[in-house]
Amino acid sequence: MAEVHDAVEVIRVKRDGGRLSDSQIDWVLDAYTRGAVADEQMSALAMAILLRGMDADEIARWTAAMIASGERLDLSSVPRPTVDKHSTGGVGDKITLPLAPLVAACGAAVPQLSGRGLGHTGGTLDKLESIPGWRAGLSNAEFLAQLANVGAVVCAAGDELAPADRKLYALRDVTGTVEAIPLIASSIMSKKIAEGSSALVLDVKVGTGAFMKSEADARELARTMVELGSAHGVHTVALLTDMSTPLGRTAGNAVEVEESVEVLAGGGPGDVVELTLSLAREMLAGVGLDAVDPADALADGRAMDAWRAMISAQGGDPDAPLPGARETHVVVAPSSGVLTRLDAYGVGVAAWRLGAGRARKEDPVSAGAGVVWHAGVGDEVTAGHPLLELRTDEPERIERALQALEGAFEVGDAAPERRIVLDAVRPS
Ligand code: URA
Repeated sequence: MAEVHDAVEVIRVKRDGGRLSDSQIDWVLDAYTRGAVADEQMSALAMAILLRGMDADEIARWTAAMIASGERLDLSSVPRPTVDKHSTGGVGDKITLPLAPLVAACGAAVPQLSGRGLGHTGGTLDKLESIPGWRAGLSNAEFLAQLANVGAVVCAAGDELAPADRKLYALRDVTGTVEAIPLIASSIMSKKIAEGSSALVLDVKVGTGAFMKSEADARELARTMVELGSAHGVHTVALLTDMSTPLGRTAGNAVEVEESVEVLAGGGPGDVVELTLSLAREMLAGVGLDAVDPADALADGRAMDAWRAMISAQGGDPDAPLPGARETHVVVAPSSGVLTRLDAYGVGVAAWRLGAGRARKEDPVSAGAGVVWHAGVGDEVTAGHPLLELRTDEPERIERALQALEGAFEVGDAAPERRIVLDAVRPS
């Protein structure tokens, strides 16, 4: 019989810098999921973990207990190798949209269970929901059939997937306990391991627009997640990628879908194409398809065909016009020269305040709201010419968005060279 513990005893162990036993971890996560440990007790424990940390064995057990709180999907009926990607979240990070169909077009299956955006980073489901008719909710049978037939599914995770994380993440969000590496790593990996794919590529963002502001923290998070994946039999690789500047030229929902379609049509901004191809190559290598070059599938239209099939299978019309916004406000370049800095956090907050994101889980988002920038870092700009375009349905939001952009960009003589992929962390 499982040992029964007391929540206060478990909190005190971690508060005093001790190590939680396997039995304490299993008990506290199970009791919290069932409602027998109260939110205030779990908040105290999360804060103790944030301040005191956890060792590798504790993180592994914590992750296993979160997986065990729900169901683990069985993808064995899918007749292709399965591989997924997860990003720790960034501004203008629309990469899943071109990436999932691209990897499907190269012969793998991508089962992407996604979330909605919270705060200044956007959510993949919010972006796709700007496509008329598209629906995020699929039954298990629909999910498996689409994975087998199309090779790519992006949909909402069901309530049965790591329910302990669902509850704990919402609590961490309101108690200042999101930024703990053991809690972030176990939260992400419990969901990804429960999803059942055989390989996983993590895009761990570094910079002002990311959770991890320093490369050292991002590397530690990446290493922790790669070890967790490997321990559970999921071939896991992490790329550390730059998030000091937003990706591409758009942040918002419909505007990011439009940009993704440009990439699938063989165009689009260079940084989005580069990151999409880097992640695609890692995903294909993870399932033994490294002889396939994803650049060919972008160039010859196969990735676009897979996108159209993926959107149609979920009720979306890939040819329908996307919603626009009622109001546009243009910010012009203050002087002529080169754009030397465009801050990811400032752009992310501006897009959020324009209505593209939500402050609380239950808030609606605007499909047409967002920010479009006409020059990227390193591009020449001309004084008085449009630099940023702010789009919103509610003009009263513009002033607050402009405040977020104060000091967020600079025009000078020469921009530092921008590297998109900073490093890779592989299983040891
Ligand atoms: N994303 C998650 O799913 N969990 C975290 O803790 C942080 C980001």
